[in-house]
Amino acid sequence: MNDKERVAKKAAMDISHGMVVGLGTGSSADCFIEALAQRHHEEGLGVQTVASSIVSMQKAQNLGLPIIAIEHLDQLDYYVDGADEVTDDLVLSKGQGADLVREKILATAADKFIVLIDQSKRVKRIGERFPVPVEVIPFSWHLVAKALRRIGGQSLLRPNANNSGLATTSYGNLVLDVDFGVSLTAEEIDNALNAMPGVIEHGIFRNLASSVYIGVAGDVEEL
Ligand code: A5P
Repeated sequence: MNDKERVAKKAAMDISHGMVVGLGTGSSADCFIEALAQRHHEEGLGVQTVASSIVSMQKAQNLGLPIIAIEHLDQLDYYVDGADEVTDDLVLSKGQGADLVREKILATAADKFIVLIDQSKRVKRIGERFPVPVEVIPFSWHLVAKALRRIGGQSLLRPNANNSGLATTSYGNLVLDVDFGVSLTAEEIDNALNAMPGVIEHGIFRNLASSVYIGVAGDVEEL
Protein backbone atom coordinates (compact mmCIF):
# COMPACT_ATOMS: atom_id res chain seq x y z
CA MET A 1 0.00 0.00 0.00
CA ASN A 2 1.42 3.42 -0.90
CA ASP A 3 1.04 6.63 1.18
CA LYS A 4 -1.92 7.86 -0.88
CA GLU A 5 -3.79 4.58 -0.37
CA ARG A 6 -2.91 4.62 3.35
CA VAL A 7 -4.44 8.08 4.04
CA ALA A 8 -7.45 7.17 1.90
CA LYS A 9 -7.99 4.00 3.89
CA LYS A 10 -7.81 5.93 7.18
CA ALA A 11 -10.46 8.37 5.90
CA ALA A 12 -12.65 5.47 4.76
CA MET A 13 -12.43 4.00 8.28
CA ASP A 14 -14.03 7.23 9.62
CA ILE A 15 -17.25 6.54 7.72
CA SER A 16 -20.09 4.81 9.58
CA HIS A 17 -23.19 2.94 8.47
CA GLY A 18 -25.77 4.99 6.60
CA MET A 19 -23.69 8.16 6.23
CA VAL A 20 -23.91 10.50 3.24
CA VAL A 21 -20.39 11.01 1.89
CA GLY A 22 -19.07 13.58 -0.60
CA LEU A 23 -16.46 12.33 -3.04
CA GLY A 24 -13.69 14.69 -4.15
CA THR A 25 -11.82 14.72 -7.44
CA GLY A 26 -8.22 13.76 -8.20
CA SER A 27 -5.84 10.92 -7.46
CA SER A 28 -6.22 11.08 -3.64
CA ALA A 29 -10.02 11.18 -3.92
CA ASP A 30 -9.85 8.21 -6.31
CA CYS A 31 -8.03 6.16 -3.66
CA PHE A 32 -10.70 7.15 -1.12
CA ILE A 33 -13.52 6.10 -3.47
CA GLU A 34 -11.85 2.70 -3.86
CA ALA A 35 -11.36 2.26 -0.10
CA LEU A 36 -14.94 3.34 0.62
CA ALA A 37 -16.36 1.00 -2.04
CA GLN A 38 -14.39 -1.87 -0.53
CA ARG A 39 -15.86 -1.21 2.95
CA HIS A 40 -19.31 -0.69 1.46
CA HIS A 41 -19.25 -4.13 -0.16
CA GLU A 42 -17.34 -6.09 2.48
CA GLU A 43 -19.08 -4.64 5.54
CA GLY A 44 -22.48 -3.61 4.10
CA LEU A 45 -21.81 0.02 5.08
CA GLY A 46 -25.01 1.28 3.46
CA VAL A 47 -23.57 4.68 2.55
CA GLN A 48 -24.88 7.13 -0.01
CA THR A 49 -22.41 9.23 -1.98
CA VAL A 50 -22.47 12.52 -3.86
CA ALA A 51 -19.74 13.32 -6.36
CA SER A 52 -17.85 16.59 -6.96
CA SER A 53 -17.31 15.80 -10.64
CA ILE A 54 -18.46 13.59 -13.49
CA VAL A 55 -15.17 11.68 -13.27
CA SER A 56 -15.72 10.84 -9.58
CA MET A 57 -19.34 9.98 -10.22
CA GLN A 58 -18.34 7.50 -12.92
CA LYS A 59 -15.69 5.97 -10.69
CA ALA A 60 -18.14 5.58 -7.79
CA GLN A 61 -20.77 4.12 -10.11
CA ASN A 62 -18.32 1.62 -11.61
CA LEU A 63 -17.40 0.48 -8.11
CA GLY A 64 -21.07 0.02 -7.16
CA LEU A 65 -21.41 2.90 -4.67
CA PRO A 66 -24.95 4.34 -4.40
CA ILE A 67 -24.98 7.89 -5.80
CA ILE A 68 -27.37 10.73 -5.09
CA ALA A 69 -27.53 13.91 -7.17
CA ILE A 70 -26.18 17.08 -5.57
CA GLU A 71 -29.57 18.68 -6.33
CA HIS A 72 -31.20 16.27 -3.85
CA LEU A 73 -28.69 16.74 -1.08
CA ASP A 74 -29.92 18.27 2.15
CA GLN A 75 -27.35 16.91 4.57
CA LEU A 76 -23.75 15.72 4.13
CA ASP A 77 -21.84 13.90 6.87
CA TYR A 78 -18.37 13.82 5.29
CA TYR A 79 -16.56 15.29 2.33
CA VAL A 80 -13.19 13.75 1.47
CA ASP A 81 -10.84 15.25 -1.10
CA GLY A 82 -7.20 16.04 -1.90
CA ALA A 83 -5.61 19.49 -2.07
CA ASP A 84 -2.76 21.15 -3.91
CA GLU A 85 -1.39 23.22 -1.01
CA VAL A 86 -2.08 23.13 2.75
CA THR A 87 -0.80 25.57 5.39
CA ASP A 88 -0.32 24.79 9.09
CA ASP A 89 -3.56 26.67 9.90
CA LEU A 90 -5.52 24.44 7.48
CA VAL A 91 -5.96 26.88 4.63
CA LEU A 92 -6.02 24.97 1.35
CA SER A 93 -5.51 25.71 -2.28
CA LYS A 94 -7.41 23.45 -4.65
CA GLY A 95 -8.47 23.33 -8.25
CA GLN A 96 -5.47 22.32 -10.31
CA GLY A 97 -8.18 20.08 -11.75
CA ALA A 98 -11.19 21.96 -13.10
CA ASP A 99 -13.99 21.11 -10.72
CA LEU A 100 -13.69 23.47 -7.81
CA VAL A 101 -17.27 24.79 -7.89
CA ARG A 102 -18.85 21.56 -6.71
CA GLU A 103 -15.79 20.83 -4.54
CA LYS A 104 -16.33 24.01 -2.53
CA ILE A 105 -20.10 23.53 -2.28
CA LEU A 106 -19.62 20.04 -0.85
CA ALA A 107 -16.72 21.04 1.44
CA THR A 108 -18.94 23.83 2.84
CA ALA A 109 -22.02 21.63 3.23
CA ALA A 110 -20.23 18.78 5.02
CA ASP A 111 -20.24 18.33 8.79
CA LYS A 112 -16.64 17.12 8.40
CA PHE A 113 -14.21 17.79 5.58
CA ILE A 114 -11.19 15.46 5.54
CA VAL A 115 -8.25 16.43 3.33
CA LEU A 116 -5.82 13.80 2.03
CA ILE A 117 -2.27 14.85 1.11
CA ASP A 118 1.40 13.91 1.20
CA GLN A 119 4.21 16.03 2.68
CA SER A 120 4.91 17.74 -0.66
CA LYS A 121 1.57 19.61 -0.39
CA ARG A 122 2.49 21.40 2.86
CA VAL A 123 3.40 25.06 2.37
CA LYS A 124 4.09 28.15 4.48
CA ARG A 125 2.00 30.37 2.22
CA ILE A 126 -0.88 29.72 -0.22
CA GLY A 127 0.45 30.37 -3.71
CA GLU A 128 3.94 29.11 -2.87
CA ARG A 129 3.86 26.19 -5.32
CA PHE A 130 0.87 26.92 -7.54
CA PRO A 131 -0.96 30.03 -8.72
CA VAL A 132 -4.49 30.44 -7.32
CA PRO A 133 -7.12 29.05 -9.76
CA VAL A 134 -10.00 31.45 -10.35
CA GLU A 135 -13.00 30.18 -12.37
CA VAL A 136 -14.58 33.03 -14.33
CA ILE A 137 -17.63 33.33 -16.51
CA PRO A 138 -16.09 33.42 -20.03
CA PHE A 139 -17.17 36.92 -21.12
CA SER A 140 -15.79 38.47 -17.92
CA TRP A 141 -12.23 37.13 -18.03
CA HIS A 142 -10.58 40.31 -19.31
CA LEU A 143 -12.29 42.58 -16.77
CA VAL A 144 -11.61 40.12 -13.95
CA ALA A 145 -7.92 39.93 -14.98
CA LYS A 146 -7.80 43.74 -14.85
CA ALA A 147 -9.46 43.83 -11.42
CA LEU A 148 -6.98 41.20 -10.22
CA ARG A 149 -4.04 43.31 -11.47
CA ARG A 150 -5.30 46.21 -9.37
CA ILE A 151 -4.87 44.11 -6.21
CA GLY A 152 -1.48 42.75 -7.31
CA GLY A 153 -2.50 39.52 -9.08
CA GLN A 154 -0.95 38.53 -12.41
CA SER A 155 -3.28 36.18 -14.32
CA LEU A 156 -2.81 33.70 -17.11
CA LEU A 157 -5.73 32.04 -18.87
CA ARG A 158 -5.25 28.32 -18.32
CA PRO A 159 -4.52 26.44 -21.58
CA ASN A 160 -6.09 23.06 -22.28
CA ALA A 161 -4.13 19.86 -21.77
CA ASN A 162 -2.55 19.75 -25.24
CA ASN A 163 -2.06 23.51 -25.45
CA SER A 164 -4.28 23.85 -28.50
CA GLY A 165 -6.81 26.18 -26.85
CA LEU A 166 -8.19 27.16 -23.46
CA ALA A 167 -9.13 24.90 -20.58
CA THR A 168 -12.83 24.94 -19.76
CA THR A 169 -14.42 23.73 -16.55
CA SER A 170 -17.30 21.28 -16.20
CA TYR A 171 -19.60 24.30 -16.42
CA GLY A 172 -18.02 25.78 -19.55
CA ASN A 173 -16.15 28.50 -17.69
CA LEU A 174 -12.54 29.66 -18.10
CA VAL A 175 -9.82 29.47 -15.45
CA LEU A 176 -7.40 32.27 -14.62
CA ASP A 177 -4.30 31.02 -12.79
CA VAL A 178 -3.31 33.96 -10.63
CA ASP A 179 0.06 34.73 -9.06
CA PHE A 180 -0.50 37.11 -6.13
CA GLY A 181 3.17 37.24 -5.09
CA VAL A 182 3.75 37.67 -1.35
CA SER A 183 2.00 40.96 -0.58
CA LEU A 184 -1.51 39.64 0.27
CA THR A 185 -2.51 37.04 2.85
CA ALA A 186 -4.74 34.10 1.89
CA GLU A 187 -7.54 35.78 3.87
CA GLU A 188 -7.17 39.01 1.88
CA ILE A 189 -7.12 37.13 -1.42
CA ASP A 190 -10.13 35.01 -0.39
CA ASN A 191 -12.14 38.09 0.62
CA ALA A 192 -11.23 39.99 -2.56
CA LEU A 193 -12.14 37.06 -4.84
CA ASN A 194 -15.41 36.40 -2.99
CA ALA A 195 -16.46 39.98 -3.71
CA MET A 196 -15.36 40.15 -7.37
CA PRO A 197 -18.15 40.09 -10.00
CA GLY A 198 -17.47 37.59 -12.80
CA VAL A 199 -15.67 35.18 -10.46
CA ILE A 200 -17.72 31.98 -10.17
CA GLU A 201 -15.43 30.33 -7.61
CA HIS A 202 -11.78 30.12 -6.64
CA GLY A 203 -9.34 27.65 -5.17
CA ILE A 204 -8.73 29.09 -1.68
CA PHE A 205 -10.57 26.98 0.93
CA ARG A 206 -10.46 28.73 4.33
CA ASN A 207 -12.17 27.64 7.55
CA LEU A 208 -13.48 24.50 5.85
CA ALA A 209 -11.09 21.61 6.57
CA SER A 210 -11.77 19.63 9.76
CA SER A 211 -8.67 17.43 9.53
CA VAL A 212 -5.79 16.85 7.16
CA TYR A 213 -4.39 13.32 6.85
CA ILE A 214 -0.79 13.37 5.66
CA GLY A 215 0.97 10.33 4.23
CA VAL A 216 4.51 10.35 5.60
CA ALA A 217 6.86 7.47 4.72
CA GLY A 218 4.53 4.59 5.49
CA ASP A 219 2.62 6.37 8.27
CA VAL A 220 -0.34 8.76 8.55
CA GLU A 221 0.00 12.03 10.47
CA GLU A 222 -2.99 14.23 11.26
CA LEU A 223 -3.15 18.02 11.24
C1 A5P B 1 -9.31 18.95 -8.19
O1 A5P B 1 -9.92 20.05 -8.80
C2 A5P B 1 -8.34 19.40 -7.15
O2 A5P B 1 -8.85 20.29 -6.22
C3 A5P B 1 -7.71 18.21 -6.45
O3 A5P B 1 -8.39 17.88 -5.27
C4 A5P B 1 -6.31 18.55 -6.12
O4 A5P B 1 -5.72 18.99 -7.32
C5 A5P B 1 -5.52 17.37 -5.52
O5 A5P B 1 -5.38 16.35 -6.46
P1 A5P B 1 -4.49 15.07 -6.18
O6 A5P B 1 -5.12 14.32 -5.07
O7 A5P B 1 -4.52 14.31 -7.48
O8 A5P B 1 -3.11 15.54 -5.83
